[in-house]
Amino acid sequence: MSEHVRVLLAEEEVNDRIRAIGEQISRDYAGRSLHLVCVLKGGSFFMCELAKRITVPVSLDFMAVSSYGATTRSSGVVKIVKDLDETIKGKDVLVVEDIVDSGRTLSYLLEMLRDREPASLRLCTLLDKPDRRVVPVPVDYTGFQIPDEFVVGYGLDYAQKYRNLPYIGVVEFED
Ligand code: IMP
Ligand code: MG
Repeated sequence: MSEHVRVLLAEEEVNDRIRAIGEQISRDYAGRSLHLVCVLKGGSFFMCELAKRITVPVSLDFMAVSSYGATTRSSGVVKIVKDLDETIKGKDVLVVEDIVDSGRTLSYLLEMLRDREPASLRLCTLLDKPDRRVVPVPVDYTGFQIPDEFVVGYGLDYAQKYRNLPYIGVVEFED
């Protein structure tokens, strides 16, 4: 069986949208500085491109999470594989994610970050699959709403592959 990636959102379309979100964020945070929190690994490509389009002062930090396993996954408990290097207390924090799917990861993560008392906490995601939502998640900035298809590229992987594609594609399998 061979795999083929069908283009869903072309490189130019994605870049244009990221530029527009960057401009919106720059307006919303005018006069303040912004602390971007990237959820590894998927959010990394999006965060770098987005950060370049933001004109207010920006600092960056990274965290990595994984689901606890099949049984606890439904409870939405995620394990912190790598925590943030710096405190977020009193900072204007924007979490940058690749995709919101069921919403379980983000809902847990946002709750955990809120306990650390940031001045503000918002969420920015490149992609959103609203049809798949199980747990409600307040998304402040969305790149694209997409149908319920498994996508890759721009940081998103299938078995660790395709993260480096400069566009968003759908993996299709052929004999
Ligand atoms: P959620 O907790 O169900 O919202 O899923 C969050 C994580 O699942 C995302 O951060 C991705 O890492 C992964 N994921 C969900 N949908 C896709 C997809 O279509 N392609 C690649 N990864 C996905
Ligand atoms: Mg992710």
